[in-house]
Amino acid sequence: MKVIVVGATGTIGQPVVKALTGRHEVVKVGFKDGDVQVDLASPGSIENLFKTIKEFDAVVCTAGLAKFGSLLDLTDGEYMLGLTNKLMGQVNLVRIGLKYIHDKGSFTLTSGVLAREPMKGSASISMVGAGLEGFVRAAALEMPRGIRVNVVSPPFVRETMEAMGMDSSAGMPAEKVAYAYVQSVEGNRNGEVLDARQFA
Ligand SMILES: NC(=O)c1ccc[n+]([C@@H]2O[C@H](COP(=O)([O-])OP(=O)(O)OC[C@H]3O[C@@H](n4cnc5c(N)ncnc54)[C@H](OP(=O)(O)O)[C@@H]3O)[C@@H](O)[C@H]2O)c1
Repeated sequence: MKVIVVGATGTIGQPVVKALTGRHEVVKVGFKDGDVQVDLASPGSIENLFKTIKEFDAVVCTAGLAKFGSLLDLTDGEYMLGLTNKLMGQVNLVRIGLKYIHDKGSFTLTSGVLAREPMKGSASISMVGAGLEGFVRAAALEMPRGIRVNVVSPPFVRETMEAMGMDSSAGMPAEKVAYAYVQSVEGNRNGEVLDARQFA
C-alpha cells in the first residue's frame, strides 16, 4: 500500500513511519520537514497535498495542535487553535482526501486519552479529542467505496514526558503507541477508537 503519514517527523509519527516502512510505501509529510509539507489548519494546503501525491491507499495523521490550560485562562484564540488545527484539520484530511483515496483505502486520525479521561487543564484538548472520536464513529457510517476511518487514542508518551522534564516511568514508549496505527491501517476495523494501551 501507499501510505501518507501526516506528522511523520513527530514523536509518534517517527515510529509509525518506521513500523510501516518495508511493508508499505510511506510518504512522510510534515509542517516544516518531511518529503512533502502541509498545514492542517489550511484546507487549501490539504487539497494541494493530495493533488501533489495523487495516488494513495491510506492516510495516517499523527499531527494536530491543541492547547493545555485552565478552563478560564484559555483564550478564545487558544480554544480556536484546537478546533481549527487538531479537530477540523483532521476532519478535513478525511473530507478532502475522500476525493483522491483509492477504493478500500483508510484514514487513521489521532485523539488522546484525555478525550475520555480528563484532568484539570484539559478542557480544550478533551473537547477536541471527543469531537474527533464522535466524528469517526459517525463518518464511518457514510464512507463510500469500502473506505474505512478510525482514530487512535494515545496515552501520555514516554519520550514527550522526558522532553518535558517529567517522571516518564508511567509513559508509553512511542514505539508501542505505533502498534495501534498499524492495526488500523492493515486490519479491517472501521469507525473505531483504538486505545493505544490495548495494542502494546
Ligand atoms: N505525545 C503525547 O504524549 C501525546 C499523547 C496523546 C495524544 N497526542 C497527540 O498526538 C499528536 C502527535 O503528537 P506528537 O507528540 O507526536 O507531536 P510532535 O512531536 O510535536 O510532532 C508534531 C508533528 O506534526 C507536524 N505539524 C506541526 N504543525 C502542523 C500543522 N499545522 N500541519 C501539519 N502538520 C503539523 C510536525 O511537523 P514538523 O516537524 O515538520 O514541524 C510534526 O511532524 C498530537 O495531536 C497530540 O495531541 C500526543
